[in-house]
Amino acid sequence: MNITFIGIGNVGGALAGNLVKAGHTVTIAARDANSDSVKNALAAHPGLRALAPAEAIAAADVVFLATPYAANADALRGLEAALAGKVLVDCTNPVGAGLTHGLGSQTSGAEEVQKLAPAARVVKAFTIYGYENFISSAYPGYGDLKPAMLIAGDDAAAKAAVSQLCADLGWRAVDAGALSASLHLEHMTLLWIKMGRVQGKGAGFVWAMLER
Ligand SMILES: NC(=O)c1ccc[n+]([C@@H]2O[C@H](COP(=O)([O-])OP(=O)(O)OC[C@H]3O[C@@H](n4cnc5c(N)ncnc54)[C@H](OP(=O)(O)O)[C@@H]3O)[C@@H](O)[C@H]2O)c1
Repeated sequence: MNITFIGIGNVGGALAGNLVKAGHTVTIAARDANSDSVKNALAAHPGLRALAPAEAIAAADVVFLATPYAANADALRGLEAALAGKVLVDCTNPVGAGLTHGLGSQTSGAEEVQKLAPAARVVKAFTIYGYENFISSAYPGYGDLKPAMLIAGDDAAAKAAVSQLCADLGWRAVDAGALSASLHLEHMTLLWIKMGRVQGKGAGFVWAMLER
């Protein structure tokens, strides 16, 4: 697939690098081609390229949004038309003071992203764990059991495309439902941060899905 990243820091860089390794064509939508994050990503992941945002998005099947939540409106401004019909993967998390939900748990950040890009097909994904797990999703010793990546969105075809990308990166995609379910994923993120980063468990854990 042709994949474009808006935001290429911890999360964007890790996912972009592994998507290149998985054989995808990956482009950075660079507002500033000389920013540290763009230069670091290009140096770390041969095969990545950087283009101006509108040009990078025009060529994309799937666009990842991996900016600080507070920067989303700025990052998407002027790109609404370019994003029409595109799968837009919302990797961002609204985190408030004291590890609370940044929107007071009244709505999800993903639904706010949808308002910023009304004609995009938004899918929440790659949010519920620390970026270390996007550098490597490998958890040896569990046989065929894959780590779970919960996703949410309103467009079935968009979720199918993101599920394929999850599989390419070593995850089992688990469909949590409509985009409004993103609120629950964002609370899962808060739980992961609390356990992993505050309580000292570290970054090396994820969830798996068992079914019968
Ligand atoms: N860190 C984690 O473990 C983790 C895990 C899951 C989800 N998340 C979520 O993922 C998002 C990114 O986190 P991160 O840790 O990757 O952040 P980060 O390392 O700070 O990277 C942020 C990226 O966004 C770009 N950016 C900032 N403001 C922008 C704007 N106005 N327009 C366009 N691009 C802009 C930055 O570019 P410049 O270098 O040019 O400033 C940088 O490439 C956040 O919403 C976070 O909550 C984080």
